[in-house]
Amino acid sequence: MKAPVRVAVTGAAGQIGYALLFRIASGEMLGKDQPVILQMLELPLEKAQAALKGVMMELEDCAFPLLAGMIGTSDPLVAFKDADYALLVGARPRGPGMERKDLLLENAKIFIEQGKALNQVASRDVKVLVVGNPANTNAYIAMKSAPDLPAKNFTAMLRLDHNRALSQLAAKAGVPVADIENLVVWGNHSPTMYPDYRFATAKGVSLKDKINDPDWNANVFIPTVGKRGAAIIEARGLSSAASAANAAIDHMRDWALGTNGKWVTMGVPSDGSYGIPEGIIYGVPVTCANGEYTRVRDLPIDEFSRERMDKTLAELEEERAGVAHLL
Ligand code: NAI
Repeated sequence: MKAPVRVAVTGAAGQIGYALLFRIASGEMLGKDQPVILQMLELPLEKAQAALKGVMMELEDCAFPLLAGMIGTSDPLVAFKDADYALLVGARPRGPGMERKDLLLENAKIFIEQGKALNQVASRDVKVLVVGNPANTNAYIAMKSAPDLPAKNFTAMLRLDHNRALSQLAAKAGVPVADIENLVVWGNHSPTMYPDYRFATAKGVSLKDKINDPDWNANVFIPTVGKRGAAIIEARGLSSAASAANAAIDHMRDWALGTNGKWVTMGVPSDGSYGIPEGIIYGVPVTCANGEYTRVRDLPIDEFSRERMDKTLAELEEERAGVAHLL
């Protein structure tokens, strides 16, 4: 059996936390031969800590063979101590009448504190996934607050958007989801994101050619994927949790264990390619191997795509400008 690794999860008593922790502990994220120690962070509020205690009791009651230990805390320095993986799920939700700007600033405080704590105590190789919204900018803030850790270790979750796009595409093209390769979701995890199926294939057949419907792309596919989060809230009365946790598992599993050449979307700090300014956390296609992600390079960008990629970039630049004075 391998030595246990430490997995920190924030917002552990929230709805995504509840859909996530049990799957990590059962080995779905890092493999059935990898023991894990869960280090769970929640707000110091009595109710949050009590709920976290309840989640830990349930984890205990599962008697997971791979669960080598558990810590529940309200102190980021405890939660992130020696963490090999950190899933930053907890965030300040948008309250009634709250402006986008205020939401950004409230979350900036959280991700500055957590970035600093990661910088201070986490493993130097920690892989960080930010799920809490606004995910890309929160990841950017945490990265900037952790100057001693490699910037490439900070990522934001675009995988839910990627998975949503896969299912929409599979349904339209009448192909199994598992056959689809080479899909991309560019940009911000927000309705401005650009799901791009120009390179997508199923068993080597171009899905763009098979579907051959630019109107569907512009007026159905892109808006359906972009507004899917709102549609789930409308239907369920709560935001997506199981699918978000599933996407977080997919993101971390692929990063840690590799994708066998398959493209997946990750929000990663830009290296300046595709006209995205360096450092901005932007959804791009990557492949993963040996615990590292590598960008898919030199894809042609047509006028339609450029326009959409620039729109989602403009939103990210605006978010970055909104928090610049804090960093
Ligand atoms: P939730 O409200 O059910 O749970 C969030 C938990 O985080 C709460 O228990 C809260 O006490 C805790 N929390 C808040 N601030 C914290 C802090 N500073 N430190 C530690 N814990 C803290 O929310 P849910 O549904 O679990 O969603 C979590 C976040 O994930 C939200 O920001 C949501 O918008 C985002 N999200 C992101 C998606 C993506 O694709 N990137 C998809 C779906 C949700």
